[in-house]
Amino acid sequence: MYADTEMAPASATSPPAVSDRLGRPLRDLRLSVTDRCNFRCVYCMPKDVFGPGHAFLPKSAVLSFEELTRVARIFVEQGVEKIRLTGGEPLLRRDLPVLVNMLAQIENLKDLTLTTNGSGLATLAKPLHDAGLHRITVSLDALDDAVFRAMNDVEFPVHRVLNGLDAALESGFAPIKINMVVKRGVNDHQIVPMARHFQGPQFILRYIEYMDVGNTNGWRMDDVVPAGEILSNLGESFDLRQLPPNYPGEVAKRFRHANGGGEIGIISSVSQPFCRSCTRARLSAEGQLYTCLFSSVGHDLKPLLRSGMTDEKITRVIRSLWKDRSDRYSELRSAETTALPKAEMSLLGG
Ligand code: GTP
Ligand code: 5AD
Ligand code: SF4
Ligand code: SF4
Repeated sequence: MYADTEMAPASATSPPAVSDRLGRPLRDLRLSVTDRCNFRCVYCMPKDVFGPGHAFLPKSAVLSFEELTRVARIFVEQGVEKIRLTGGEPLLRRDLPVLVNMLAQIENLKDLTLTTNGSGLATLAKPLHDAGLHRITVSLDALDDAVFRAMNDVEFPVHRVLNGLDAALESGFAPIKINMVVKRGVNDHQIVPMARHFQGPQFILRYIEYMDVGNTNGWRMDDVVPAGEILSNLGESFDLRQLPPNYPGEVAKRFRHANGGGEIGIISSVSQPFCRSCTRARLSAEGQLYTCLFSSVGHDLKPLLRSGMTDEKITRVIRSLWKDRSDRYSELRSAETTALPKAEMSLLGG
């Protein structure tokens, strides 16, 4: 099933990158640690689909900490430098700091980070920092409590996320990135208030264009506020200057406040796709490897991990899958692709 590929040279200091058909190296791994979430954001886990009757993964189907750490180490040996823990909501995974501690010990891993909705940070920020987590990103779509409650759709009050952010700052996570998905007519009036609130060195606010991920959010192009419009909106209140990327393949375009008030970013995956430099692999909580956020199917690594297969064989499979990759969904987006079946964002962790 998988073409054989050459084995990686055994070098502890400079892991060999494997490149796909479009010459893109494998540099980032996003590990989903659970498919569950305590929010029901309207653009991600709409209640009518993810209601009380929804079948989440049983515990036995979810990769264990040992399996996650093993697979993460294999990816790092193949050139992955950054691991991001995602969900669903990753803080719902029991004993998450134990996993962080295991991953933090992987040799040559440069960046270990996590994306959370922030609801559990008041209690978990310090244990996660102590366990060796380098950075966190918090999703927050509005400061206005009524708007925020309507978007998370579980009546979660915004002040609890803000308390979680305080706890994260006190624990040593700064700067913290804030992800705001912008949906027209829902929270676009929060663009400027969010920028005001998160000005300064402790936060980097990123505006994300609403995407057609999954099949359940009823995405329409009319709901997307394109990056250009977000920028011109901001331009009426702030003097912003564009910054160069921090690293090749960074998804956010960066801007700084000319008055020294810190940085913001815009992630324009709909209006200005960045597939050309996409170096991200995604592993779902049940061990399906996806080579694109918009893939309809993953490649099941769990049977490999649970069948006594050697690291060398698993390495070959992963390299082969990456070499075969030609995904560039956002560049090809059209009425036809939008209608294709896709894995849900809550499985892939964004
Ligand atoms: P840093 O490690 O801090 O640079 O994070 P990042 O800029 O990679 O951002 P993050 O992983 O937090 O991604 C932010 C959001 O951008 C995600 O939640 C997605 O909505 C979007 N995004 C990230 N990666 C991709 C991608 O490969 N394709 C698309 N279409 N969108 C992506
Ligand atoms: N479009 C854009 N971003 C999304 N996210 C979830 N669903 C969507 C969507 N449809 C973002 C969340 C979070 C990250 C995991 O993915 O806001 O920041
Ligand atoms: Fe949960 Fe994040 Fe999806 Fe919202 S966007 S429902 S917080 S996984
Ligand atoms: Fe990468 Fe797919 Fe996103 Fe393009 S659409 S940037 S290939 S994950």
